[in-house]
Amino acid sequence: MNILDNFIVFEGLDGAGTTTQARLLSDHLTATGRSVFLTCEPTDGPIGRLIREILSGSATVTHHALAMLYAADRHDHLYGEQGMLEQLRDHDLVISDRYFYSSVAYQAVDVPKEDVLSYNAPYPHPMIIIYIDTPVSECLKRIDTSRDSRDIFEHEHFQQAVYENYEQMFSEISEQIMFCRIDGRLPIDQIHRQITAFVDQRMSIASP
Ligand code: TYD
Repeated sequence: MNILDNFIVFEGLDGAGTTTQARLLSDHLTATGRSVFLTCEPTDGPIGRLIREILSGSATVTHHALAMLYAADRHDHLYGEQGMLEQLRDHDLVISDRYFYSSVAYQAVDVPKEDVLSYNAPYPHPMIIIYIDTPVSECLKRIDTSRDSRDIFEHEHFQQAVYENYEQMFSEISEQIMFCRIDGRLPIDQIHRQITAFVDQRMSIASP
């Protein structure tokens, strides 16, 4: 299994709080003297922008094509100019808000899971996955309070299927990856403290 050292990934449903917590962890690690590159998927590169257009509903492609687009965006995100591999040479840590586990959870609702896995097979696993486990009903409530409209994935039945895919995938996650499940219903600062405790402990184990 190919694992990228010093690469941390956040996963969870839309509205689970991954973006907030990824930023808080990045700030915390920076404050402890580490250089951190914080990034996300979909990216803000050309393929990521196309994906966001599709998510808004203003363009339509087949489910398979969308799954391939996420995988293509990821290739560029990893190996492109100023991509994550390059950033890992220049920084102590890279944190990504979402990675290929999102593809397995979301795209496998409409595309056979084996196909999604094969599009993403070339990509390395991160050293740490932080999964913010937030119930679908809570996520949808947060989306509705924070935004005027939902994107094409932000509906109860779809999110429930995504939730089940996450559960299935993470119940079988390799022990070689450090996996941290957090209760996303807790207050933001409590979640942050649990995440920093996990990461600080694992990072000190990982350091020489
Ligand atoms: P995200 O940027 O997390 O959402 P937001 O713009 O609301 O902060 O991700 C956009 C959507 O893309 C989100 O619904 C999750 C979905 N997604 C996939 O379906 N597959 C993927 O591989 C990734 C990375 C994201």
